[in-house]
Amino acid sequence: MANEIKVAFSGARRAGSFFKAFQTHPETEIVALCDPYAPTLAASGEATGVTQLYTVFETMLDEARPDAVVVSSPMHYHAPQAIAALQRGIHVLSEVTAAVSVDECRWLVQACNSSDAIYMMAENYMYMKPNVLVAALVEAGLFGDTYYAEGEYLHELSVLHHMPDGSPTWRYYWQVGVNGCTYPTHSLGPCLMWIKERPERISCVGTGIWTDPEHAMEDTVLLLCKTGSEKLMRIRVDMLSKRPHSMTNYTLQGTKGAYESRRRPGEGDWIWLEDFCKDPDVWVPLETFEDEYMPEIWRDPPEEAVRAGHGGGDYFEVMDFVDAVQGRKPPPIDIHAAMDMTLPGLISQESIRRGGEWLEVPNTKGWGTNGSG
Ligand SMILES: NC(=O)c1ccc[n+]([C@@H]2O[C@H](COP(=O)([O-])OP(=O)(O)OC[C@H]3O[C@@H](n4cnc5c(N)ncnc54)[C@H](O)[C@@H]3O)[C@@H](O)[C@H]2O)c1
Repeated sequence: MANEIKVAFSGARRAGSFFKAFQTHPETEIVALCDPYAPTLAASGEATGVTQLYTVFETMLDEARPDAVVVSSPMHYHAPQAIAALQRGIHVLSEVTAAVSVDECRWLVQACNSSDAIYMMAENYMYMKPNVLVAALVEAGLFGDTYYAEGEYLHELSVLHHMPDGSPTWRYYWQVGVNGCTYPTHSLGPCLMWIKERPERISCVGTGIWTDPEHAMEDTVLLLCKTGSEKLMRIRVDMLSKRPHSMTNYTLQGTKGAYESRRRPGEGDWIWLEDFCKDPDVWVPLETFEDEYMPEIWRDPPEEAVRAGHGGGDYFEVMDFVDAVQGRKPPPIDIHAAMDMTLPGLISQESIRRGGEWLEVPNTKGWGTNGSG
């Protein structure tokens, strides 16, 4: 089984986190890297020992002929590069978001429908330890019916909006150069995992522009998502306001319990469950339930998992991707799950333009091989 899956990477910066997970996996071999910026490519090749280096993505696919590719290039390349790989029968692990327009979503779904290759979106926040434990408690029925969730991604990123020479980066255009909830998946992914219904309609409003008039995105943007049975999710994304970052704020409410994640460093994650907590006013630490309910993967994680990026999330999602490629189980974040996390943010751009009007989120399971629905 050793080195069965040949893996290539697109976008040498973010690939660094994935690299460790693929390097330590006994069934994968990293064969090629692509980055159009030659100095980054060379430095990355030197640091990793990978010798097949490319500045053009499609050339890498055709010459290195990998079995799988990790698309961790800037956001606006995710869909075109994923499609190019799927059309060649190459499996795709794509960074978030899956696409930057509704049309791209249609083309991507069409490519997935027409390809035998696996597509998985790398929403690593769903693999973080507290989020995995909350999901296990939801599965075990300890929250009862879950009907409300919140997720917040508050990450002041202005230092990444320009290159050292002052020229704008992709984040300047695609993350804060568009008004709407442009980066929702880290918040929406865990909420959807706990609410267990897809978002059917959304509304988006913002604060107006306060910090920096240069950007089109309002400082704080709120995305409300409703499911078919009226469950509600509230997503807040803010990449502009001046404040210490706080990217993993979550709340969950069910008929039998509630969860509140830590908001500041040093704080704990708190939970209250009707069946376990005798005092109706006293929260208990989430870890109280670790011994009994923590899923196997997080129980005794290898050292490299704990050291991997994003609280171990990067490591565990690579495990799931390899399992999917090997046919052991379906990818947990398949194309439709990826669309349920990506489309609400794209539709939010129209909603915020129309003053928060509620708009439908298409169900991509109804989209045929030609992407029509
Ligand atoms: N899931 C997470 O936690 C997480 C964290 C960081 C970044 N990301 C995502 O990863 C992606 C990359 O982010 P980053 O922080 O590494 O950005 P970055 O700007 O630091 O680096 C992007 C790299 O991609 C290269 N690149 C540009 N065009 C390319 C192309 N056409 N093909 C291949 N490579 C290309 C650039 O030269 C650069 O080396 C983004 O989509 C971002 O949203 C996700």
